[in-house]
Amino acid sequence: MNAAPPAIELRDLRKSFGRTDIIRGAHLSVAPGERVAIIGPNGAGKSTLFNLISGRLAPSSGEVLLHGQRIDGKPPYEINRMGLARSFQITNIFPKLSVFENLRCGVLWSLGYRYSFLRFLSRLHDANARAEQLVGMIGLKSKRDVLAVNLTYAEQRALEIGVTIAGGADVILLDEPTAGMSRSETRHFINLIREVTVGKTLLTVEHDMGVVFGLADKIAVVVYGEVIAFDTPEAVRANRRVQEAYLGSAVADSQADEGGH
Ligand SMILES: Nc1ncnc2c1ncn2[C@@H]1O[C@H](COP(=O)(O)OP(=O)(O)O)[C@@H](O)[C@H]1O
Ligand SMILES: [Mg+2]
Repeated sequence: MNAAPPAIELRDLRKSFGRTDIIRGAHLSVAPGERVAIIGPNGAGKSTLFNLISGRLAPSSGEVLLHGQRIDGKPPYEINRMGLARSFQITNIFPKLSVFENLRCGVLWSLGYRYSFLRFLSRLHDANARAEQLVGMIGLKSKRDVLAVNLTYAEQRALEIGVTIAGGADVILLDEPTAGMSRSETRHFINLIREVTVGKTLLTVEHDMGVVFGLADKIAVVVYGEVIAFDTPEAVRANRRVQEAYLGSAVADSQADEGGH
């Protein structure tokens, strides 16, 4: 038996905007170290779920737990301090800082809130070493001193992942990390995500079914504000309710795709 509480747990989570119910009783339990892909039609509420988990929005009712502790209603920085980091659909890096400086900012920021200022100064050396290590992890060694603004789009997204994990969070939320990338960029990027999140819990919203089935231990299917299925990729593929609600055409597409390679 695994005694550890789930990394992320949603209990009957609900969110309304005005009179419109957007999240309508979502349940989910993600084990530590699990990689979960969240799929579902546009407007199903996937980004809203991430906003509720990361503290950007407070739920109308229900609970969000991080490692067994309630986090619903807490501000984002507090949830981040508890070990959850999120990257946004919009790139959030400093354009006029280099790759290395961006990563060092990410590391220092996390040290800054964990330690007193003197302790913080004594940690600068560690922060530099950690930032250096991150440059390598995201595959940008040759671009170490290039300003973020001068990177390619895919490189900027890689840097963003680096900044997201720089603070040492063990639960990572990525909202459509491969949006706007070519097929080959996507494939490369998914490998990167896999490498930098080893041992961490990962929730990622992803549209490309080939990517989803390759990356995820489990798939959560969100339709109309509910998690209608949460299972292994094989089981989700075979789930009739999912096929009817959403997946039929998407699975057919990804299988046709695989056949093409
Ligand atoms: N702040 C908001 N105010 C009002 N409606 C919102 C807000 N955020 C999202 N919505 C609505 O909630 C629904 C779900 O949106 P979203 O979570 O972005 O879906 P997804 O990420 O699955 O495409 C959409 O109909 C969207 O218009
Ligand atoms: Mg979205």
